Amino acid sequence: MEFRLKPGFLLGAASSATQIEGGELDHSWNDWFSQGRIKDGSDPARAADHYARWREDTELMAELGISVCRFGIEWARICPEEDRVDEAALSHYREEILFMKELGIQPLMTIHHFTNPMWFERKGGFARAENSRYFLKLVEITVDALGDLVSEYITINEPNVFATESYYFGDWPPGASSFKEAVRVMNNLTACHIKAYELIHARRRAMGFTDTMVSFANSMRVFAPKNPKNPLHRFSACLTRRVFQGALTTAMTLGKFSWPLKNMAGVESGEYLDFIAINYYSRSTVTRLGDGVREGSPKNDLGWEIYPEGIVTCAREHYQVLPRPIWITENGTCDNRDAFRSRYIYDHLSALSASDLPVQRYYHWSFTDNFEWLEGESARFGLVHVDYETQQRTVKDSGRFYAGLIKEHGVTGELYRDHVADQEYHA
Ligand code: BGC
Repeated sequence: MEFRLKPGFLLGAASSATQIEGGELDHSWNDWFSQGRIKDGSDPARAADHYARWREDTELMAELGISVCRFGIEWARICPEEDRVDEAALSHYREEILFMKELGIQPLMTIHHFTNPMWFERKGGFARAENSRYFLKLVEITVDALGDLVSEYITINEPNVFATESYYFGDWPPGASSFKEAVRVMNNLTACHIKAYELIHARRRAMGFTDTMVSFANSMRVFAPKNPKNPLHRFSACLTRRVFQGALTTAMTLGKFSWPLKNMAGVESGEYLDFIAINYYSRSTVTRLGDGVREGSPKNDLGWEIYPEGIVTCAREHYQVLPRPIWITENGTCDNRDAFRSRYIYDHLSALSASDLPVQRYYHWSFTDNFEWLEGESARFGLVHVDYETQQRTVKDSGRFYAGLIKEHGVTGELYRDHVADQEYHA
């Protein structure tokens, strides 16, 4: 029941700008909301009002003992128009980062996390290779303004999820449904990451820093054949893995392209990350018809399978492409009643601490409840409950468990008994 974390292992929390900040900005998710596309009708302009409440949220983070924080910046705030930089937004982030550091919290900054300013969307967004210059401009502006305070960066969050949801399934803005287009976006995002990787290093080097750490956040799933004896299920599982994460992991990490991606002029092979950043949630069970959820498996409130061993499988899959220190940059679950989140954390962290991989950090998704994209406010992933009407924060039982785990640097018998022992997943 008890386990200790490895010495030096750091625990924190992750979030993204759009999901917590709120604000009437001209960006793709506020636009998607205005088209009536959010299932529960909730407005991302409200979210957790973190742009106003950042001080309170950061203090609460420190109170729980969190020492590393993955947070995002909002492109549409920094560049509200193509040729305009809002200095006030940069100063805001500066103040927030300074405060984090004052409280002993090390910031890991995500530059792009799904949301685009509408001026960029109108130009065709990431579907057009020539638009990468706008993203690189954002990288430059951000690193020049904040690079003296921030040494750790995620260039792009989950390029595979962004490309497939936005350009293949058509559920996210801009709502396109084309395999070819989704693949083109993956290709373009790869080039963006690689150039951003080099740019961030170059700008910080010019400032005299040698401690820069850059990666992209890789959304990885386990793809398992429903019936391992059925060759079609096996083939389908391999194919889905390759299309969703295999080819892209190698491209983003090494600048080497394989089907379904295409070689890109101007992108050389090399090593384009300093740490492996894994976002892990679930396993897919694959038949010849596609992927689904295994019958009888433990599930969360959104019906996603809970499969803790998968966090190690995925970390290993990426580690085999390039061995680097591993940071889990997202892991968490939708549990609206906070009935099994502590068990979820316990199961995933114990799997990680039993593994032989050099896992150094764990960022729980998420610190507070937040705007969960299409699901809006109705899917709660936080350690801290948010009452969206009053914006009041209340630490959940899982938040207390997490704080205890951080303090003890592991799970003691008492922590297990008080928070985990009675918890069960949905069948
Ligand atoms: C994303 C987050 C999201 C989480 C839970 C990840 O795909 O990076 O933005 O809230 O999963 O769905």
